[in-house]
Amino acid sequence: MTNPVPCQLILALDLETREEALAMLDCLGDSIKWVKIGLQMFTAHGPEFVREIAGRDYKVFLDLKLHDIPNTVSKTVKSIATLPVELLTLHASGGSEMLQWANQARSDYSAQLNLLAVTVLTSMNEAQLHSLNVQKTTEEQVLHLADMTLRSGIQGLVCSSLELAPLRDRFGHNPIIVTPGIRPTGSFKDEQKRVMTPAAAAAAGSNFIVVGRPILKSDNPAATARAIRLEIE
Ligand code: C5P
Repeated sequence: MTNPVPCQLILALDLETREEALAMLDCLGDSIKWVKIGLQMFTAHGPEFVREIAGRDYKVFLDLKLHDIPNTVSKTVKSIATLPVELLTLHASGGSEMLQWANQARSDYSAQLNLLAVTVLTSMNEAQLHSLNVQKTTEEQVLHLADMTLRSGIQGLVCSSLELAPLRDRFGHNPIIVTPGIRPTGSFKDEQKRVMTPAAAAAAGSNFIVVGRPILKSDNPAATARAIRLEIE
């Protein structure tokens, strides 16, 4: 079956210095259109770095995984709405009230921002879920959090590619689904546990795959990024 959901590549720009990050983007050239700025870079370089990346014509995914009381999260969304950011994450486990307040701030203050709720981190497995006293299977927990997220009006989800099929079955093609934990055949898994190849994730209905270390640590990052794009397109 052909996949009705087009899939795009997002580079997770998880590096230490601004210079390293800009050099990596220069080296990658036009193989990358979307850049994910995570906690590491945002904490070190702040909103100015977001503006700098967007100023270079990249679309920005700000991965701050917000998780706090509804008032704090909604005020943070309001602040982020002043930045050139198109995707922003928060944790679904913050609860439906937090999600609804965040979505209200988004619709009040931004025309371009989409919120994505992280369901279960791709670095977690069932043993780790059980250690948090969550007795469901990973898939059950992801579906539960996804249901709550989408009922709260949030635009999309972050999950492992392994949950794409049940999510698309239950919620159809509309929610934006972003999948990290992507590993091209033969590359190291690092600490990621629930991984899939780029082609398999695209075929299973991912709108965006997020790839960091397999590109950043490659001997030829541009060739690796191009190969991944070819695989998903
Ligand atoms: O280097 P790697 O490809 O494993 O990077 C994956 C990126 O996706 C990291 O920036 C990580 O923070 C992020 N991420 C994740 N799992 C989630 C949500 C985001 O790995 N559930």
